[in-house]
Amino acid sequence: MLSLRLAAIAALIEKGDVIADIGSDHGLLPLYLAGKGYSDLYASENKKGPYNRLKKAVNAYSSNIIEVDLADGLEKLPARINTVVIAGMGGDLIASILSAHPHKLDSVNKLILAPNSNAQTLRRTLNFIGFSISYEEIVEEKGQFYEIIIAHNKPCHVCSIETKFGSYNLRNKSETFIKMWNDVYEQNKRLLNNENLPEVRRKEILEEQSLIENVIKRGEKT
Ligand SMILES: C[S@@+](CC[C@H](N)C(=O)[O-])C[C@H]1O[C@@H](n2cnc3c(N)ncnc32)[C@H](O)[C@@H]1O
Repeated sequence: MLSLRLAAIAALIEKGDVIADIGSDHGLLPLYLAGKGYSDLYASENKKGPYNRLKKAVNAYSSNIIEVDLADGLEKLPARINTVVIAGMGGDLIASILSAHPHKLDSVNKLILAPNSNAQTLRRTLNFIGFSISYEEIVEEKGQFYEIIIAHNKPCHVCSIETKFGSYNLRNKSETFIKMWNDVYEQNKRLLNNENLPEVRRKEILEEQSLIENVIKRGEKT
């Protein structure tokens, strides 16, 4: 029987998710998922002791459904994995696991993370590595609170807007702030009239114009 925390994580896994459970320990989550009909699972541990325990638990069940690995974080993540679960560790450790092998995340669409401390470090890292939070939940079990975060592989729109314009400026929208960005907008229009403008620069300017139109001129909420 799964704990409420692991059951909440399992309930967030959808058909089509090819799961890696990093730091699987006892393997309870992949074993549960295998029992639910998931047929392609990956579970890893970075230490011999927990790895052997995991292997034993999985072998007793079915080793052709759950691939077990001794690996540090995402280091050996197979390319077929599209969803990574990392649960039951501190937010700092989860953040360092995600940052250590950035290219391994290229083929990952979804992260299901359950930090047992320092969720704020993890949220900052998600923004930095180009994942945006799409869902959050808090589970209470035996007087403890557990945060669960789902993030998808796309840059955070709100974060990039706040970084560009400044969250304080966006809240206050002073006359000079609006005037400054209207000036930038007009300068950009002149630059775009230059036929010799390199394509890469033209694309950047067009993206900036679109942001100015939406956020400054139309007042899109962040
Ligand atoms: C407390 S257990 C959590 C087990 C399970 N994920 C859960 O939520 O119940 C954390 C596990 O993560 C493993 N671990 C820690 N750092 C790791 C890393 N860099 N790569 C893989 N596993 C790691 C530990 O060995 C330990 O077994």
